Amino acid sequence: MKLDTDILNVFNRDWALLTAGDKSGFNTMTIGWGGLGTLWSKPVATVYVKPTRYTHKFMENSDYFTVSFYEKQYRKALGVLGTLSGRDCDKVAQAGLHPEYYENCVTFQEAEITLVCRKIYARQLDIAAIPQDAIDRYYRDEPAHTMFVGEVVKIADNRRK
Ligand SMILES: Cc1cc2nc3c(=O)[nH]c(=O)nc-3n(C[C@H](O)[C@H](O)[C@H](O)COP(=O)(O)O)c2cc1C
Repeated sequence: MKLDTDILNVFNRDWALLTAGDKSGFNTMTIGWGGLGTLWSKPVATVYVKPTRYTHKFMENSDYFTVSFYEKQYRKALGVLGTLSGRDCDKVAQAGLHPEYYENCVTFQEAEITLVCRKIYARQLDIAAIPQDAIDRYYRDEPAHTMFVGEVVKIADNRRK
């Protein structure tokens, strides 16, 4: 068996963009929490979004979302997209990324890999079931994240171009 444990660092260390909506309107934000795995025998991506994020509304209203990964040179752009809110400005333009529209979802031309996900589960984390150290650190004055699980229905890999 060949298990590459570097996958465990993909979100926290390298970050990704979570994008929901379509050509008629979308929003994106940087994520540092997430997982790739299996649920109900399907390949899935799991992401955690605070209800206060503008992206949250798009996640609620969309059947599809994308999780996209970038090379190091886009670190600054991901920093911008994880600091500014799409509520207040055109942060995609400010970050210098270019949207790429799929039928039901959006990613960016600069993405190295994009996972197209069909939303199959969404539920806010139950504060009562969260470890105390995580409550102290993340949820003192903040609502719990919503967990969204998406079935990975397509992988767009620009490394193969
Ligand atoms: C490195 C990094 C990782 C982040 N990870 C998450 C995350 O996993 N979940 C989350 O809700 N917010 C996360 N954020 C915060 C959002 O990206 C940030 O609040 C963003 O401005 C929200 O944009 P929006 O209001 O346009 O949705 C992260 C921010 C950074 C910089």
